This record gives sequence, structure tokens and C-alpha cells, in this order.
Amino acid sequence: MELKILTFPDRFLKTKASPVTDIDGSLQKLIDDMAETMYRAPGVGLAAIQVGVDKSLLIYDINPSDDDQRRLRVLINPRIVTSEGEILSENEGCLSVPDFRADVKRAERILVEAVDREGRPLRFEAEGLPAIVLQHEIDHLDGTLFIDRISALKRQMYARRIKKKMRSGNE
Ligand code: NI
Repeated sequence: MELKILTFPDRFLKTKASPVTDIDGSLQKLIDDMAETMYRAPGVGLAAIQVGVDKSLLIYDINPSDDDQRRLRVLINPRIVTSEGEILSENEGCLSVPDFRADVKRAERILVEAVDREGRPLRFEAEGLPAIVLQHEIDHLDGTLFIDRISALKRQMYARRIKKKMRSGNE
């Protein structure tokens, strides 16, 4: 089932996710629904907060549009253990921030710990694009959007544009 993706300025996007305590059938169903939603968008990542669920869960796939290259990755209770270096994530975007892209400074390499959908512990390093996607999605679980990491001026310009659009849509 495709889920509704919340968009800025929905206040739920500022929620800090709660740890997952049970990997049960309802969580598996949520993961499947999130995957369907992400691939349909298409997007490279989706955090549970974005579909209105207060759980520390994210999915990602850096090849969402290529059926042969697709590989869904599921991280439960993910956390960045260490990060190093700096790269510019060019033209970063987000399914919850429609019609806007911006450059964002991100760590170049990160070490991540999480649990997979079978409950097995994971610990791995990510570099480059996967590292950027993971930082972006883990930010969502902390109530942070990528526009919180750009200049206030650019963020306000976007916020004004969205408010104007919402007003004209409500008339
Ligand atoms: Ni996003």
C-alpha cells in the first residue's frame, strides 16, 4: 500500500523518532509499504517520520529507478558512530521538500550501526553517495530536514514560496 508522504511545513517532520522495540508483523508491513512508496516516487531514501510514523526506521536504495540494480536496504534504530571528512552534496533533494534542491555539506565517510529487518545487528562504513543518503535519512529520524542545514536566507525563500503556494491553493 502506497503511503502519503508528509511535506514541509508539516510539523510532524520535526518529530524525533522513538526506538523500535519490536520487529513484528506490523513493522514488516510498514517496511513493505515504505518501499512501495519510495520506489513509486521514486526516491533514494525514505524515513518512517516522513510517512507519519514515529519510529526509528529508514529504507534506502541508491538505484531506485533501475529494476536490475535495485537493492532495498532497511535500517532499524540506525546511528552514526563516527564521521570524517567533508563533501558537498550537490543538488540534494527530499520527497518531503518538493520542488527545491540545494547544496549541503556532509561528512564524506561514516560508520553506521543499526539492526536489519530480521533483527540482525549491522555495522558498516559508507562513503560518497550512500553516506550522503544515510546522513539525510538519519537526520529525518532526528526531526531535521536538509533545508535546516542550508543558509537561513535560502530556507526562508523556500518557506515563503511554499506558503504562497498553499495560500493560492486554498482560495
Ligand atoms: Ni528526505
